[in-house]
Amino acid sequence: MPIRFEKVEHLYSDGSPVSFQALKGIDLDIEDGSMTAIIGHTGSGKSTLIQHINALLLPSSGKVTVQDYVISPTERPAKLKPLRQIAGLVFQFPEYQLFEETIEKDIIFGPMNFGVPEEKAKAAAKEALKAVGLDESYLERSPFDLSGGQKRRVAIAGILVMQPEILVLDEPTAGLDPQGATEMMELFQSLNRQGITVLVVTHDMNQVLHYCDHAVVMSEGKIVKKGTVAEIFAEPAYLNELSIQLPTMTQFIYELNQKGFQIDMSINQLDDLIAAIEAQMTSR
Ligand SMILES: Nc1ncnc2c1ncn2[C@@H]1O[C@H](COP(=O)(O)OP(=O)(O)OP(=O)(O)O)[C@@H](O)[C@H]1O
Ligand SMILES: [Mg+2]
Repeated sequence: MPIRFEKVEHLYSDGSPVSFQALKGIDLDIEDGSMTAIIGHTGSGKSTLIQHINALLLPSSGKVTVQDYVISPTERPAKLKPLRQIAGLVFQFPEYQLFEETIEKDIIFGPMNFGVPEEKAKAAAKEALKAVGLDESYLERSPFDLSGGQKRRVAIAGILVMQPEILVLDEPTAGLDPQGATEMMELFQSLNRQGITVLVVTHDMNQVLHYCDHAVVMSEGKIVKKGTVAEIFAEPAYLNELSIQLPTMTQFIYELNQKGFQIDMSINQLDDLIAAIEAQMTSR
């Protein structure tokens, strides 16, 4: 099990009068090689949860285990440096991650910090930039002169270049146009198929249906549901209570079934849906 949360609580400004408990008793296992969506309304604790995976935040109580690393209230982040290579985290706000004067310097910072020679790091930076859909001309530009979507791509490249075994993405397609979002999700899916464990925070339920195999639903600092994507979307009324919409395809199947069809709610490909509808039309 590469990632395990046990009884994790997180309090911001712990011990002060403005202390706020953002995570409450989190127990969670993430399977090796899975692609898991973290969903839930704004402020439910998603970003707080995932920042524990590379020890950017430490639990106030409980512990997180990532491969052989134990992250606990007393474990100092300095001891956890190698963990930052194993578990790469792309922030919700890319500005938090970009700080160098050129994009190239920004992307090679991580590998060089881990002892990769400069020339090798530069070659890897080119590859990473290409993977996120930006050409070499960006290398000498300032990361601060980019659009929101371009900044996000650079921030993702800066993590991919580290070749993490676990990739944690906080709303990675926010600010991208629909085609860019699809390309980015396909990139993560292909990395996942190569064996990388992927966690993705998203508000887009269509992405959850099409790309993820597991999902975790958060509400008010707790995990209120976890399971396969099919299991999560099998309870529309419950999701509705949490203000989580069904994916378009699942909603469509749900409404067809209300009208007497009997179509498998877990279908996530258009071709399969068309075949299922055809089969039932001809048998009527
Ligand atoms: N640095 C902080 N200090 C105090 N409270 C914080 C801090 N960061 C987040 N919180 C609070 O913790 C709760 C969870 O925040 P978090 O950012 O984890 O939510 P989220 O699910 O990622 O939301 P969103 O979908 O808006 O990104 C919120 O109520 C938020 O106000
Ligand atoms: Mg967030």
